Amino acid sequence: MASGTVAESEIEEEEEEEIKLGSYDGKVRVLREDEEAAAGEIMLLWGIQQPTFSKPNSFVAQSSLQLKLDACGHSLSILQSPSSLSTPGVTGSVMWDSGVVLGKFLEHAVDSGLLLLHGKKVVELGSGCGLVGCIAAILGAQVTLTDLPDRLRLLKKNIETNLRHGNMRGSAVVKELIWGDDPDQDLIDPFPDYVLGSDVVYSEGAVVDLLDTLVQLCGAQTTIFLSGELRNDAVLEYFLDAAMKDFVVGRVEQTQWHPDYCSRRVAMYVMVKK
Ligand SMILES: C[S@@+](CC[C@H](N)C(=O)[O-])C[C@H]1O[C@@H](n2cnc3c(N)ncnc32)[C@H](O)[C@@H]1O
Repeated sequence: MASGTVAESEIEEEEEEEIKLGSYDGKVRVLREDEEAAAGEIMLLWGIQQPTFSKPNSFVAQSSLQLKLDACGHSLSILQSPSSLSTPGVTGSVMWDSGVVLGKFLEHAVDSGLLLLHGKKVVELGSGCGLVGCIAAILGAQVTLTDLPDRLRLLKKNIETNLRHGNMRGSAVVKELIWGDDPDQDLIDPFPDYVLGSDVVYSEGAVVDLLDTLVQLCGAQTTIFLSGELRNDAVLEYFLDAAMKDFVVGRVEQTQWHPDYCSRRVAMYVMVKK
């Protein structure tokens, strides 16, 4: 990429607005409302953040049967099924960095007083092994963790292993939710306060269905947090471009993440309905 292009993008970033979005009290960089916005964001992320310069899977061990992580004063043990990764279409049988980043971000944002999860209704999409939803429940949210029907067994096992009345202030249930299908009424009545998703934007073919589900799940007061791995610029650009039709999109800068869980290979967005 030409250095002049990056410099222009840097200037454009300076001009992007930093505001609060939804129920998150930290400031986020809102993506401009024009047709070049998604492309500009991709140029910034790949040109300045340079994701390929840092190691993938820094916070996870995908070949292990479990991932141990301390969160909210508890030792969590997230069971994984590395062998299932070889099954076509299975991606959530192990943890991904962006899940650890989002989970630890939630802990940090609550501790910093920028986010309130206690008593809030939360729906997580594509929960995989369930770390993010577990952390949200420990932080006091009433969480529904969702995934494809054949991915729920490991998810349930991780909830049973990690969440007990003694360590969780909220609650957690597991439910099937296929993106693009109509969500069960209890997921949208009332609308969730928060929708969470880590590493759910990775396939161009799933973007339309994912956005359809986000639109259906979100009311005027719903705040979405999405974290994702910076693997494929075209897929992220396609997602951001489409998302900006229905949502205001803001990037959460790494300065607001948990200081021990930052990665140049991950980006995080807050979205609210227009
Ligand atoms: C890369 S994994 C991420 C898992 C977990 N969120 C994490 O960060 O470790 C993507 C997740 O999205 C789920 N998923 C993919 N397509 C889906 C769809 N059409 N409907 C519902 N869930 C889907 C997968 O089963 C998987 O659990």
